Amino acid sequence: MKRIILVTDNQKLRDFCAVAIEAQLNAKIEVKRPGDDYFGDPSLANEIFAIISDLNIFSDENGIHLYETNNEFFKIPFFLILDGSFEAEDSSYQEFFKVHRYNNSLSIADISKELLPTLIKVIKKMELDSHFKLNFEEHKGVKLYRVRASFFLNALVADGDVFVKLKNGKFIKLIKAGDEIHTETISNIINKGQKYLYQDGQSFEKFVGQKLATLKKGFSAQGLNDSQKMKLQLATIKEVQGAVRMMGISELTIDMTDDVVNSVEDVIKGKRGLQNLVKSMLKFKSTFFTRSSILNYLLGGLASKIGWDTKSSLKKLIFASVFCDYAFSDEEEELACILKIEEGMDLSSYQRKVIEKHPEIAAHHLEKTQSLLLDETIIIRQHHEKPDGSGFPKGLNAKNIPPMSCAFILCYDFVQILVESCSNVNEIDCERIFEQLGDDYRIGNFEKPYYALRKALNL
Ligand SMILES: [Fe+2]
Repeated sequence: MKRIILVTDNQKLRDFCAVAIEAQLNAKIEVKRPGDDYFGDPSLANEIFAIISDLNIFSDENGIHLYETNNEFFKIPFFLILDGSFEAEDSSYQEFFKVHRYNNSLSIADISKELLPTLIKVIKKMELDSHFKLNFEEHKGVKLYRVRASFFLNALVADGDVFVKLKNGKFIKLIKAGDEIHTETISNIINKGQKYLYQDGQSFEKFVGQKLATLKKGFSAQGLNDSQKMKLQLATIKEVQGAVRMMGISELTIDMTDDVVNSVEDVIKGKRGLQNLVKSMLKFKSTFFTRSSILNYLLGGLASKIGWDTKSSLKKLIFASVFCDYAFSDEEEELACILKIEEGMDLSSYQRKVIEKHPEIAAHHLEKTQSLLLDETIIIRQHHEKPDGSGFPKGLNAKNIPPMSCAFILCYDFVQILVESCSNVNEIDCERIFEQLGDDYRIGNFEKPYYALRKALNL
């Protein structure tokens, strides 16, 4: 049950919270005075879901202290209900709300209309955000990022201290900032079953930046053959997804994904059919990076045959391909392979939730960066819909899924079946995959992409 603290003498607000919020949000409202001690123990503060108050909170020293402590330390969503004396144009208030962006302000006149929907929005956002919290740990007040240990193989110098987490939950320093990183040390750690090491955000960001910059240099090298380009694409997708999962999307990761788009376009140019390309790609160990890479070539082939503006369509499709499944961690690989949730599947409720929500989690996080356009996030949100309406999250069908999402879904599902059914890369049978997909994939908005993909595969 969610604990919501209500700090107000306003009877209208108290009545509304008691009736509407408690009943509809499965929440418990606790009416408090500003001076009451509810942050005394920070672990208790973690249990508070939201604070609702009004401007009177600032007429009391304790109230100001409560507000400032929350802003500084706890950052619990704070709903400030404004009475009639508030002037919307008042620049000091505007500034105030800009500074504390996680706060919400609502007018008293609108509480019955807006407070509940805003709270619901906050709940949804918190649920989606919490998914990535697994990536962080607190150590002596510093936020440490969980980094794949293998990431440090072949690295030269540690930008910041590198920690290892012991079974008892304690962190010990493995490599000091500025010291050389020995491959042997890292291999030993991996062999002992440690998959992850920890580093503070700033050092990790610098480290990721260097790693991505090296890959970026690879793209600008002249005279690469297809196999080198494929490997580069694979490595880039892996690192970009890892970096975005930890730090959010950055200019560099966007830039690198642009390089992937150009490389895909370059590789498929002039190819009569994509089957040989797919075969060579399948020789790499199958992970979701491999699948994303194969998917990119199929999307490239399809885009070149369908008659849309190839470059801009390809960009949207490949951005969706690189980011659609990044809500899954490396260990959740098998969850990322599930196309549809079916009766009787052996899944925990957490796994079921991650599968159901991964399109929304990815789209939500990418939208926050405002670097990606609407089309990409629409494709990401819809990438598990199915032509017969049996997909998720909305159960859309071939008539109401937009054509570009249909193109993506067709190729995405094609790749999953291809990887699952292909034990021998020399015996790829594309016709059989189309048969398995079934006739539904050539109706409605799927029709054009279906025939374009066949053409791209030279069928
Ligand atoms: Fe997915």
